[in-house]
Amino acid sequence: MLGVGGVTFLAGLLFGYDQGVISGALPLLQADLDLSTLESEIVTSWVTLGALFGALVAGGMADRIGRRWSAIIAGILFAAGAVIETVAPGAGVLTLGRVVTGLGVGFASVVAPLYAAEMAPKRLRGRFVSTYQFAITVGIFFAYLADDALTGSDRWRLMFALAVIPGVALAVGFAIMPESARWLLKVGRRDKARESLVKVDGPEAADEELATLEANIEAEATEGEATWGEVFSPGLRRALWVGVGLAAFQQITGINAIIYYANEIFAEAGFTTAQAQAKATLYAVGLVNVLATLIALAWVDRFGRRPLLLAGLVGMTVSLAAVGVSFATLSTTAESETSTTVGGLITVIALVVFIASFAFSMGPVVWTLIAEIYPNRVRGRAISVATAVNWLCAFLVAQFFLTLVDAIGESTTFFLFAALCVVTYVFVWRLVPETKGHSLEEIQTRWVRGGDRMLDDAGV
Ligand code: BGC
Repeated sequence: MLGVGGVTFLAGLLFGYDQGVISGALPLLQADLDLSTLESEIVTSWVTLGALFGALVAGGMADRIGRRWSAIIAGILFAAGAVIETVAPGAGVLTLGRVVTGLGVGFASVVAPLYAAEMAPKRLRGRFVSTYQFAITVGIFFAYLADDALTGSDRWRLMFALAVIPGVALAVGFAIMPESARWLLKVGRRDKARESLVKVDGPEAADEELATLEANIEAEATEGEATWGEVFSPGLRRALWVGVGLAAFQQITGINAIIYYANEIFAEAGFTTAQAQAKATLYAVGLVNVLATLIALAWVDRFGRRPLLLAGLVGMTVSLAAVGVSFATLSTTAESETSTTVGGLITVIALVVFIASFAFSMGPVVWTLIAEIYPNRVRGRAISVATAVNWLCAFLVAQFFLTLVDAIGESTTFFLFAALCVVTYVFVWRLVPETKGHSLEEIQTRWVRGGDRMLDDAGV
């Protein structure tokens, strides 16, 4: 069990490091390699495109060659991408490195939650998948740490080189882990499946589990091989819609725009030097993100997915609206030094509340639900689709946030994010089922037999 947690953690760490590292590396890269604005944008955002493509391919691959091998390939790609970035003589090779890294991150972002959900006992499943999100936040924190420590030198190559470590560790970690028993049974390797269950659950629980899995997979087998068409079929459309909706809302409510924009906001609040801003980002954003994720880890299997999501969304809406109001105040009182600082401080507090609210709700719980709401036969592919949509929305926000700020102003942009949180609240309240305490098999039966019973559970 510890091992499953360990490799899931590594996968998240690698995802997070990659999200965070570029913010510190970019200014050094620009100076050293003489990057144009367009080249800087490409170097920053093409990793997301690599991840988008990786996520799309990963689901089919995880169903074909297994969860374990897919994760090993993810680790190798990630390490190879980091090596290419480290030795890059110019923007071209660097971009290649970013895309290869992105492919690895895309693979890992599909395979790790899938593996964790399939390997975890049901009473701990939420916690296992949330471990992945916890690791993402730790990865972002490490990246901010590396950025902070290495800024002031031209050691951007070292920032990228450090990413080789989690990449290699992921590949080695998965090489010694057992394959998912659900997948092994699906491809007809019963002995191996039992071996895997014994390793994870012990011999007694293993036989019981094996019987349940087998019955389930037999029932599926009579329906034939899952196809892409089936992922989009009417019976599954509702589950697909819920997963894809959650994946999109997680990004378009602004998390990465805010992680990216933190330095600027701290500058407004009176942190004048680059060093002070980097430290504020490290602790107020990086550390708060890590700590608040622990709340989800502790509570997701006790209180359930829906209460955490709904409570977090209230916090996100209120804090985003507060950021909007304080930006509006900042711009009208720009002449007065004192008001600027007070308004700026309110912005910082609101920002911390936002990060904390996201970190115990939309961050971890979205990945948990995406990993558990789909039936076995299509789970790999359906998770791929949802994850790819998540990357696409991350790309769009990263690419257009500054343009949006230029066009409609900071204040209106934050009000827009707040409004999208309200839409997300309604979406969760009306459509997202509670999955706490149900086995993956029960969840699947409920969707197929009629989404209405899931909605009963949702209390609607
Ligand atoms: C999101 C990432 C985000 C991170 C922040 C994750 O759940 O998918 O895009 O950067 O949370 O902690």
